[in-house]
Amino acid sequence: MSCTVVVGAQWGDEGKGKIVDALSAGVAAVARYQGGPNAGHSVIHQGQTLVLHLVPSGILAPATRCFIGNGVVVDPLALRTEVEKLESLGIDARARLVVSHAAHLILPYHRAVEAAAEVGPGAIGTTGRGIGFAYRDKAARVGLRVEHLADRDHFVAAVDRVLARLKLEFPEAESLARMSGASIHAELAACAAWIAPLVGDVSHELHAVLAAGKHVLLEGAQGTLLDLDHGTYPFVTSSPATAAGAPLGVGLGPRTIDRVIGVSKAYATRVGHGPFPSEMPDAEAARLREAGEEYGATTGRPRRCGWLDLPALAYACRVNGLDELIVTKLDVLDTFDEIRVAVAYEGVADGRFPTDAAALERCRPVWESFPGWKTPTSGARRWRDLPVRACTYLEWIERRTGIRISRVSVGAARDAEIHRDA
Ligand code: GDP
Ligand code: IMO
Ligand code: MG
Repeated sequence: MSCTVVVGAQWGDEGKGKIVDALSAGVAAVARYQGGPNAGHSVIHQGQTLVLHLVPSGILAPATRCFIGNGVVVDPLALRTEVEKLESLGIDARARLVVSHAAHLILPYHRAVEAAAEVGPGAIGTTGRGIGFAYRDKAARVGLRVEHLADRDHFVAAVDRVLARLKLEFPEAESLARMSGASIHAELAACAAWIAPLVGDVSHELHAVLAAGKHVLLEGAQGTLLDLDHGTYPFVTSSPATAAGAPLGVGLGPRTIDRVIGVSKAYATRVGHGPFPSEMPDAEAARLREAGEEYGATTGRPRRCGWLDLPALAYACRVNGLDELIVTKLDVLDTFDEIRVAVAYEGVADGRFPTDAAALERCRPVWESFPGWKTPTSGARRWRDLPVRACTYLEWIERRTGIRISRVSVGAARDAEIHRDA
């Protein structure tokens, strides 16, 4: 029995989808534990990039069952569209997918009020998928869960109560006026019937997989620095993206987890607002953005680009209790003359990472630089294939974080990676 968590060690988009896809061969179950369709996890299927939003990235492994845990927020229409797209590509997603009865629903009013809330100086730069307001309803105990789709009377009455409050709170959200419990239920009726056979007890199922001595992989969405508690609040998402959220979000005990893998790019990106101390000036960022194709997989927004931030990465190693680190997109740095790293912040002792957004905004990096390797790495498949300067950079990251790098990714395709021990 083994249970591994894969978690983003930065601000999301570290390449978790690619890594989970690569790790899924031979894994009985892959489960998402938090977030929702704000996630965009890219995998390569038959040479084409496929972006997964709610479906776990284990879905391309033909014998792997995929689970959406209680900690995820599910937009039922988005889920159906995604599963049907996979089926159109010959992937039997529906046959291998289980959705927790206890996962909360994202409903049309969540997107409507988020759009209203994202206007003006308080904006977070969200993905616009209704995530924060769905989790708000969950915490306020007025949310609707997947299981409620099958109970029309409960659904309609509960939605009407929520809508009555939201209409007072967000008078500017005009589309709310047209919404009612009955209209939303009618809009979702066909989707509710479609989803019903997929609904199950994810906790029970994963316990059974583990009891049978098989492997479970828990796939994080977003990243450590977007975690609701441990991220750069308030510029965070509304769920526990760190490894501690994994058992909670699927209904396993914390002692079930026996391995935590963090994924970090060889540099850094961020989408949305919020502090980013190692962000590059525009021209340099534009060069990295083109080299790394750094555009949001969900929204298409250009990602903000920067150099690796050591205080942030060391912090991620600590709050997740990482056992190992996977470094992705090393190849993107192949043409740079100089690789820079923020190794500390001026005046901040012990290499600390302040997570309060206002405090972090004031942080100025202390830089170190490494000579670029100026050699293509995308064909490397063994550690010894890597240029010496690239190894020096990776080994320096290991020394400074104290965490072993177990794999390095050098391209988007599944096999474009180096196993350290191979
Ligand atoms: P996720 O949200 O963590 O799954 O990451 P995204 O899919 O949003 O963004 C990662 C992007 O980098 C995707 O376009 C991947 O196809 C791509 N990618 C992943 N690993 C590598 C790599 O090692 N090299 C290159 N060049 N691209 C990669
Ligand atoms: P994956 O799983 C990168 C960011 C948004 C915004 C903040 C809050 O692909 O790594 P939300 O819509 O969640 O309320 O937005 O979080 N964000 C992500 N950034 N990758 C993601 O997912 C993200 N999901 C949310 O840009 O700053
Ligand atoms: Mg992404």
